[in-house]
Amino acid sequence: MKQTILLTALIVTILSMSYCSSPQVDYHQTETQEQIDDRMAWWDEAKFGMFIHWGLYAVPAGEYKDQRISGIGEWIMNSLNIPIAEYEQFASQFNPVHYNADEWVALAKQAGMEYIIITSKHHDGFCLWDSDMTDWDVIAATPYDRDLLKELADACERHGVRLGFYYSIMDWHHPDAQAMWEPNYNQGRNSENINPNFQRYLDDYMKPQLEELLTGYGDIGVLWFDGEWIPDYTTEMGKDVYNFARNIKPDLIINNRVDKGRQGMAGMDAEGDFAGDFGTPEKEIPATGMPGLRWETCMTMNDTWGFKHFDHNWKSADSLIYQLIDVTSKGGNFLLNVGPTAEGLIPAPSVERLQAMGRWMDINSESIYGTTASPFERPEWGRFTRKDDIIYAHVFNWPADGQLNIPELQSASRAWLLADPSAQVEINRPGSGITLQLPETAPDQVASVIAIELN
Ligand code: GLC
Repeated sequence: MKQTILLTALIVTILSMSYCSSPQVDYHQTETQEQIDDRMAWWDEAKFGMFIHWGLYAVPAGEYKDQRISGIGEWIMNSLNIPIAEYEQFASQFNPVHYNADEWVALAKQAGMEYIIITSKHHDGFCLWDSDMTDWDVIAATPYDRDLLKELADACERHGVRLGFYYSIMDWHHPDAQAMWEPNYNQGRNSENINPNFQRYLDDYMKPQLEELLTGYGDIGVLWFDGEWIPDYTTEMGKDVYNFARNIKPDLIINNRVDKGRQGMAGMDAEGDFAGDFGTPEKEIPATGMPGLRWETCMTMNDTWGFKHFDHNWKSADSLIYQLIDVTSKGGNFLLNVGPTAEGLIPAPSVERLQAMGRWMDINSESIYGTTASPFERPEWGRFTRKDDIIYAHVFNWPADGQLNIPELQSASRAWLLADPSAQVEINRPGSGITLQLPETAPDQVASVIAIELN
């Protein structure tokens, strides 16, 4: 009996020792290209996602004490130098009674979006989930008593949409993580100092929060970091955070803002060794594809990310469809933003645009999902994408004579319009390359897609 107890104690000790000291895998260093490609497969296939910027900044909605900000809505605390104690007052007015996670996810899905990235915590530090690490969250600080992220996670699971979390490293509310140019910076604005206790914030606050997000909300697909530019955060920390998150969830995908490699709004990494699985061009679409590199353009529909009640500078639905095609033809993903109100509503102009994109996707999504960058130069009349042995020609400017010449292709076995797959498009070879004989009028006023099967 005594022996059994001793033996059991020994086994328990060994097990717990090996658990505690279980070595962290250095995913950043050790993953093979094949492992990376496998892990990234769903993201490569998906192409089109919804970005959601939602938080307390939706309460002032760009305007506070008779002052309207010219910049982006979620930066209002910084732009108007609002002290923390004053900014905290917005929490009592954040009561999104109209929030319906199922409706949001259904809208994304209807638009043809395959994944959603929502701000779990933006620069103001406010958490949309029930975090054990702080009372600066939706449950403790607002009249609304529901975990917003849990509801979204459940809805995503019901609708088969992948979910990811945006997480700001910089945190204007946490005394150890404020940017030094930030009005509430603990040592005074414009200080040259850095936060002396930033490492403490990283270890005792940020990491436990990431663990909450990665373990309590189902199968999280992406962590989308931001605010990595503050000087306190180093490239060593970036690699550490990358590995930390992947050790919790090995198949996780993480953007390049987890490390310090990003070069401004163009979003791709500088030369060097940086962690992160994809580049993040912001409100920018690269001029060309970048073979071997993964990237995702994030884009606003008007000028702001977080809701601003007076930003009416909406891009047209047509131009958003062009952007989706343009990005896809260059091998990128497109993450298109909505900024819901403090009541929990996605603004009507956003809904209309998403519905229009959905109508286009209903007919043409085959030319988007799972495609790779165009093998050819950009033609004047539109864009190409490719999937295996099919080239998709997206025609923006329909030829008046119905003749579409593709000099890069010497032959093709058949061609058809995605809008009318049963009717064959005639393929002629009059001279240089093939010429498609198209119907007189374009089936889609924005972009009509012709699938061309190579032989
Ligand atoms: C910028 C802004 C931020 C926004 C992000 C989206 O970095 O600081 O407010 O969330 O871009 O990419």
